Amino acid sequence: MLKLKDIHAYYGQAHILADVSLEVNAGEVVVLLGRNGAGKSTTMKSIIGLVKPAKGEVTFQGARIEQMAPYKIARLGLGYVPEERRIFTELTVLENLEVGRQAPRAGVPTWDWDKIARLFPNLGEMPQRPGGRMSGGEQQMLTIARTLMGNPACILLDEPSEGVAPVIVDQMAAAILELKSQGVAILLSEQNLHFAAEVADRAYIIEKGRIRFSGTMAELEADAEAQQQYLAV
Ligand SMILES: Nc1ncnc2c1ncn2[C@@H]1O[C@H](COP(=O)(O)OP(=O)(O)O)[C@@H](O)[C@H]1O
Ligand SMILES: [Mg+2]
Repeated sequence: MLKLKDIHAYYGQAHILADVSLEVNAGEVVVLLGRNGAGKSTTMKSIIGLVKPAKGEVTFQGARIEQMAPYKIARLGLGYVPEERRIFTELTVLENLEVGRQAPRAGVPTWDWDKIARLFPNLGEMPQRPGGRMSGGEQQMLTIARTLMGNPACILLDEPSEGVAPVIVDQMAAAILELKSQGVAILLSEQNLHFAAEVADRAYIIEKGRIRFSGTMAELEADAEAQQQYLAV
């Protein structure tokens, strides 16, 4: 589905990512774990084209995308939910969703209001609510929902649980598992091992822009040393 091979990325002279390789297979939820500043968001931006990798390959469904523009990558069916919520505060929930709508895509679920309302019952109760009058967690759900309206085969979720109330975090976890059951592949980034353990099949740990651990969620949960060394647990 999605494959990164030996990615290097820079901000100016600063070498941020070195030799980052990872893979997301069809139907998988994969988590990229790491502390603040480890390189999670930069990895996501390198995938979606907001940061151009200086070296390395990014392949999505067989197509090389590391030199493509972000909007073209999105149109291939790779959705991106940035860590800062980007909803339109003046637009209602329904209008925000319309902005994200793309044509149906073969082999992946097609999203409409009814399906979104089932996935996020909170949103389902407020179709006419202006984005600016929603809680942070509701805005986070709306950002994910708008990305789904593009009918993606795979989505990148950058720290979806960050700064969100616990009750919303639970709903977020349930939504991720539902997306997986519908066949949407997911790469999420997290600092929170507990949230990751609820939803992910496999994990990578990034530290100082390098991948330090790769394994199943069960392997990571059994590896106290990796947790201690690279995560805030
Ligand atoms: N736009 C930027 N310009 C310069 N340095 C940046 C920029 N964005 C992030 N960095 C630096 O790159 C490193 C990785 O950041 P980031 O990918 O945002 O980490 P994470 O998402 O894991 O918290 C950090 O040292 C951060 O300070
Ligand atoms: Mg980040």
